[in-house]
Amino acid sequence: MRRLWRLSSLRRVRSSHVLIRTLSTTNGANTNAAAVEKPYYVTTPIFYVNASPHIGHMYTMVLADSFKRWQTLKGNKALLCTGTDEHGMKIQRAAALEDVPPRQFCDANAAIFKDLAQRSRIDNDFFVRTTDPDHVEAVKHFWFLLNQKGFIYESKHEGWYCVSDECFYPESLIEKTVDPMSGQVRMTSIETGSVVEWTQEKNYHFRMTALKDRLLQFYEQNPEWVVPASRMSEVVNWVKNNLEDLSISRPVDRLSWGIPVPDDPGQTVYVWVDALINYLTKAGFPGWTPGAEHAGGWPADVHVIGKDIVRFHCVYWPALLLALDLPLPKRILSHAHWTLGRKKMSKSTGNVVNPFFAIERWGADPMRFFLLHDGGIAYDSDYSNAAIVERYKKLLQWGTGNLTSRITRPKSWDVRFMVETAERLPPLGEKPSLLSEQRQLLLVLPEAVSRHMDQLNPAGALKEIMAVMTQTNKFVTDAEPWNLVKAKDLKLRDEQRLRWTIYLAAEALRISGILLQPFIPDKAEEMLDIVGVDRTRRRFEDARVGADFTYGTPMRDPGKSAYDGLFPPLPVED
Ligand code: ME8
Ligand code: MG
Repeated sequence: MRRLWRLSSLRRVRSSHVLIRTLSTTNGANTNAAAVEKPYYVTTPIFYVNASPHIGHMYTMVLADSFKRWQTLKGNKALLCTGTDEHGMKIQRAAALEDVPPRQFCDANAAIFKDLAQRSRIDNDFFVRTTDPDHVEAVKHFWFLLNQKGFIYESKHEGWYCVSDECFYPESLIEKTVDPMSGQVRMTSIETGSVVEWTQEKNYHFRMTALKDRLLQFYEQNPEWVVPASRMSEVVNWVKNNLEDLSISRPVDRLSWGIPVPDDPGQTVYVWVDALINYLTKAGFPGWTPGAEHAGGWPADVHVIGKDIVRFHCVYWPALLLALDLPLPKRILSHAHWTLGRKKMSKSTGNVVNPFFAIERWGADPMRFFLLHDGGIAYDSDYSNAAIVERYKKLLQWGTGNLTSRITRPKSWDVRFMVETAERLPPLGEKPSLLSEQRQLLLVLPEAVSRHMDQLNPAGALKEIMAVMTQTNKFVTDAEPWNLVKAKDLKLRDEQRLRWTIYLAAEALRISGILLQPFIPDKAEEMLDIVGVDRTRRRFEDARVGADFTYGTPMRDPGKSAYDGLFPPLPVED
């Protein structure tokens, strides 16, 4: 009875949603359900709202955003989900400390993360909050299925719980340390240094050990599932040596701020189970249409996470999904950390850089550029203003901005004319020359960038593009078009050389501008406007030498001096 009620209430909540999907699939032939294309689906972790975001959160968002925008550039439908993790002891305590009701506390802080996404120019389709009603329903239904399949049992649990990391640690992973501030002796996690507390309680457990073999088999068959692959061995070792059943609820007198366990109001769902399910919520779980479950994006193509939460995403999450026979995410990108003074930036310690100030100071795109170019995947990166200034000046201002103005500003040649007539120029021939080398450089760029993006490596992609900018600047300097224009009675050969030079430099701007869109969307748009590239010709397939002869009439003023162009001088440097 209970179960029937549950399903029907679920159906009620979801009915409009289901109806729309059903209608759209019955509209045409039956085959439509399967024929609906699966969107490329990218996620970020949902961030705890215990404190304001820092540069690390912006980094994760920007990485994920570059993958979504990359897919869009390639003409694929792509979805990006980010959001906030709002339940659990950590938030309950943070709210109590500020003496505000948790809901109000979460509303205020979630708004700050949302604002960060906007200011960072994140093109997210969803901003999920674990307090959203659709998410609460998804979690309850997930629990119901786990229980129905026999994966949940009740038992007494005792162990060391870490509120800051929201997990239990086994005895072997904790140690006695002295608090440097108070001199007090306490127990802390060896991995994270956070304080743990002894707890003893009755709660529900997830039979994770029953999935051990399936997990190990999955890792073995998918050695590239985690990027970088080097992190996979930690995961495998952990499952081999430490896998236990997982405590998945807390008594409500300890933890009231969360989703109540279905059919047992005395227990609250463990915050990590609640949080991980967010990835399904916005993909339409559980209201998806039979045969077209993938229409909302599941399975995710990539979960972007920090290396601090690998275990949750690479062990607990696949275990939970395997229990329900749901498809697993295709890849996990686990990136390294930003440090400040070589110490991890962390909300809990306050050792952070405020991303809002950074964006205000340097601009959203220069910050995106810096984070993607210098941020670590395998190894940590130390944050410094000096490095931002250096990248800005060398790669953006000189490399990209100056090249744009060098080609588009001079009155002595007309880019539109050069582009328009380029099609009729005599071919360059096989013999290596400045011109043929420049052409070759541009021919191979899009595929090189694409390969890096396939490997989830935006830094590699940006470095390819920047190398072309640097090389094109050199090419223009060596080819000296300004001397050719000055010469009276230009010989036909020199006239052709001049035209090829300007054309190939303009192609470098056009192609790089197109390829830069996923990384620095606003600056790339400005650049393409200055070069006069039609708005409908800015797709990946347009980024080929000779794919477009219609551009060259500026849609935006290139500026009058090198100092009012794409990348103006920085206001203050230190
Ligand atoms: O772990 N450098 O939330 P969280 C780079 N709610 N990235 C960093 C970073 C740093 N110094 N510090 C944090 C949680 N991050 C859970 C996640 S998901 C179902 C639940 C980024 O607020 C990085 O992505 O502690 C890291 O994994 C995440 O923020 C942790 O955010
Ligand atoms: Mg954290």
